[in-house]
Amino acid sequence: FSSVFLFFLSVAGSPGSSRVLHACSIMFFSLLYTLLAGLVLVLPVLLYLRNPYLVQDVRYCLSVLQLALSLNRCKRRNPCYTILDRFLDLVSKHPHKPFLYFEGSCFTYIQADRESNKAAWALRNRVRSGDTVAVFMGNEPQFVWLWLGLSKLGCTAALLNTNIRSKSLVHCFIVCICSSWGSCLFCVSDLQGAVVEVLPTLQSLGVQVLVLGVDCAVEGLHSLTGSLSESSDQPVPVDLRSKITLKSPALYIYTSGTTGLPKAAVINYERLWMASFLQLIAGVRSDDIMYVYLPLYHSAAFMMGLCGSIERGIPVVLRRKFSASQFWNDCRKYNVTVIQYIGEVMRYLCNVPKVRKQDRDHKVRLALGNGIRTDTWNEFLQRFGNISICECYGATEGNIGFVNYVGKVGAIGSGPNHLNWEEPVRDSRGFCVRVPTGETGLLVGQISARSPFSGYSKNKQQTEKKILRDVFVKGDQYFNSGDLLRIDRQGFVFFQDRIGDTFRWKGENVATTEVADHLLMVDCIEEANVYGVKVPGKNFSTCQFMCWWMQNTLCVIVRLQDALDVTGTFKQLKGKLAKEGFDPALIQDPLFYLDDSQGYVPMSRDIFDAIAEGRLRL
Ligand SMILES: *[C@@H]1O[C@H](CO)[C@@H](O)[C@H](O)[C@H]1NC(C)=O
Ligand SMILES: *[C@@H]1O[C@H](CO)[C@@H](O)[C@H](O)[C@H]1NC(C)=O
Ligand SMILES: *[C@@H]1O[C@H](CO)[C@@H](O)[C@H](O)[C@H]1NC(C)=O
Repeated sequence: FSSVFLFFLSVAGSPGSSRVLHACSIMFFSLLYTLLAGLVLVLPVLLYLRNPYLVQDVRYCLSVLQLALSLNRCKRRNPCYTILDRFLDLVSKHPHKPFLYFEGSCFTYIQADRESNKAAWALRNRVRSGDTVAVFMGNEPQFVWLWLGLSKLGCTAALLNTNIRSKSLVHCFIVCICSSWGSCLFCVSDLQGAVVEVLPTLQSLGVQVLVLGVDCAVEGLHSLTGSLSESSDQPVPVDLRSKITLKSPALYIYTSGTTGLPKAAVINYERLWMASFLQLIAGVRSDDIMYVYLPLYHSAAFMMGLCGSIERGIPVVLRRKFSASQFWNDCRKYNVTVIQYIGEVMRYLCNVPKVRKQDRDHKVRLALGNGIRTDTWNEFLQRFGNISICECYGATEGNIGFVNYVGKVGAIGSGPNHLNWEEPVRDSRGFCVRVPTGETGLLVGQISARSPFSGYSKNKQQTEKKILRDVFVKGDQYFNSGDLLRIDRQGFVFFQDRIGDTFRWKGENVATTEVADHLLMVDCIEEANVYGVKVPGKNFSTCQFMCWWMQNTLCVIVRLQDALDVTGTFKQLKGKLAKEGFDPALIQDPLFYLDDSQGYVPMSRDIFDAIAEGRLRL
């Protein structure tokens, strides 16, 4: 968070009772001259203050400088230089270096290039450059080949969350498929069912559905397997992507967001570069090996993990799904040196029964990610050894980010607290007020040419909702991160909470409103109030919440009431309900638990105890 140290000095000590934290110019987006000036001005000051993190700060400044120079070079080149060009350069530079490890197979750069050429040729006659193509697949090499192939054709990939179904799935098409002709949906065999479910709607939208991996007998689905195996592995013409600039959309990544259905964040090539450079900032070297097990449809795995590894030119070890028990085995097998995490993942790893001799038998030296809590952080280091943890903060669609490259153990993570204010506090002149050091405030990032906010695809209303106007001066614009942060005296930033009704479950933000919307689609349900509760006996553990989205929306625990309490403005009250939890001894209303085999069964003392003692896993 030393970016904070460098750029956030202006924040410290601003007077007033305040609720907005001003993140002036954020490191990712700072231009060269700012950095040079910053370096010249700030270094002596840092020396003067005998900054204990001087070495890290200098190293950080240098890597940011390198970032700015590289980005500048990418921009100046004509045609522009994208992450795909970087990949192709690596193919020529070291064709036989491993690029991807997956379930025992190893693909070198040249093999990856050929596979993606095949994907490109197989799609050549179905899409035009500039089209958007949705990719609905789990983590597997074909995902990467398709994305590279699409980039080679000048197409934009929309990365669909493989958990979404029905209405949300269709919605994802409506928000990002721009031209009806040539838009396709990909899926693999195990996701075919989800697509068939909404096939008539997709067809009415003019979406072609292509299926990989199986011979599909369903009418309206086209198999891509045949054309893939027959197509050439030679490069497709470069002029197909000649119109691409760094401002062209490279990807759509869906955010679960705080309200309603998924929103597609537009990621252009410049933004993709920014995120890719995170590995450089975190200190990943060209001899490292990266482990990617988070879903590729998320920005963490795709942009920071995969694209970051392409930027660094290092191999990626890809895994279908996270497995706490296999984690270290994979790390040992593939000599992994860098891992990614989301807060809960580190806790899962710490929860695996100890194997004393093996715990420290690995080559992992660096972990980068987001959302680790202080207690997990300490426990993790004690158990798994000297691993540098690089906590990063950033939203997929946001224009701000920080990196805690000095490894300061920080209180990061969010609980299901419901906040009673959701709007920044404004002073008598209508401007927002800054928080003093040490107080919690809402993080906002100024929207400017250097740090733009591209918004959500085809969703003006949601885009507008994320923009705050007239924050410090008339006419300015800020991105509202929705996150509550605190800056301490040393300039470290601590994550405090998230505004709104979102809770985190297994590393994903879940909007309670979204779950409620789905429940309300059932006729007999008049009102639904979805909220998270703490599971007794567990500290902010991963299974603290009642509701989760499974296949189609399901609630794990249901409480029935004759009428729901609402506020004066008809907002549902959740705080009291959340506090009451789900103890059948305390709650008079009928309570139900979703049993795997029997469906909903009345919540009993036994079930409650089993959950509290961890015998029954939510
Ligand atoms: C991991 O490293 C060991 C020793 O350095 C080597 O023998 C082995 O082949 C490596 N494994 C992989 C998958 O590269
Ligand atoms: C931890 O590792 C870093 C470099 O990876 C090294 O500089 C440091 O001395 C190590 N600390 C301990 C306690 O081993
Ligand atoms: C909860 O946290 C407290 C202090 O942080 C600790 O003493 C206690 O053992 C924890 N309980 C569980 C079940 O992890």
